[in-house]
Amino acid sequence: MEKVTKQLLDWYHINKRDLPWRHTTNPYYIWISEIMLQQTRVEAVKEYYVRFIDRLPTLYDLATIEEDVLLKLWEGLGYYSRVRNMQKTAKILIEKGYKNLPNTRDELLSLPGIGEYTAGAILSISFDKPSVSIDGNVYRVLGRYYKIEESISKRSTYSIYEKYILHILPSNNAGDFTQSFMDLGSLICTPKSPRCEECPLRKGCLSFKSGEVLLYPKKDKKKDKKVVEMTVFLYIYKNKVAIRKRENKGLLASLYEFPNINQVVSEIDIENQLIDENISYYSVSKIGDAEHIFSHVIWNMTGYKVVLKKPIVDYLWVTKEEICQFYSIPSAFAYFCDSFLNCI
Ligand code: ADE
Repeated sequence: MEKVTKQLLDWYHINKRDLPWRHTTNPYYIWISEIMLQQTRVEAVKEYYVRFIDRLPTLYDLATIEEDVLLKLWEGLGYYSRVRNMQKTAKILIEKGYKNLPNTRDELLSLPGIGEYTAGAILSISFDKPSVSIDGNVYRVLGRYYKIEESISKRSTYSIYEKYILHILPSNNAGDFTQSFMDLGSLICTPKSPRCEECPLRKGCLSFKSGEVLLYPKKDKKKDKKVVEMTVFLYIYKNKVAIRKRENKGLLASLYEFPNINQVVSEIDIENQLIDENISYYSVSKIGDAEHIFSHVIWNMTGYKVVLKKPIVDYLWVTKEEICQFYSIPSAFAYFCDSFLNCI
């Protein structure tokens, strides 16, 4: 075994975090945890993971649950395509007669939403197969340790890191090896203020030796995100608010939202529009501003409460209780949703 491998494993055995998905090797559960952890912090995932497996303890349960209920279970985690792909995968496997996830890389990679990283994590953690699983933590730890000069923003760099990791991959303890990077990357080899003095790898770490830890892993400059200006309407009729279902493709597909437009408008504009359309109302008032940052776009939203004398027919009219129990309103609208739930 390579020296660095032993240092990683020894450190992990003493310092590993006690996380809910580390009490099992059931591939279905490991898969759920890995998908949830892809774009969400460990602390936030814990509660969702426990609730999810409690509600859907088997692959069959996931395959057969109604989509709206599933999306409600995922509400707040964001990136809903993750859970949609999970259900597609569950359906495919159940149809083929599987009761759990398969144990080969090729089979795993053929399933929706399972890429190299997730396949490697499942194979190593659930099936104890020595497997490469490269995430941001691996890029950081190895990029710094070996001072790898290629930018991790380029696709072709993946295979360079893959060679490094294949060189140090142990023949057993595969799951611990994979997870040692996750914990070292989260606890010690962190992006901005790494705690190098406590790092088990510091003696061999080339960037530590040359005082250049923060220069690795090498990355290209980020592109600026597109900013979309929006106006969000909380139409209120009696004790209900208007919502609508988003299109079934694109950002936040098929989730519910408050009516909104990609335009900045004033209270006077809104009142004029209501009068033009013959919609009778009691009042229009500004709620406030909110921003939501997605991976490629930023929504700059201003919200208005419009109290109506009659409901507008195009929308679904729902109470506070119905919003809480049945409709998944993405966290992008949390500010406005809270303002309906708390004040109106
Ligand atoms: N991040 C991704 N997968 C993880 C895991 N299994 N444990 C901790 N952090 C993770």
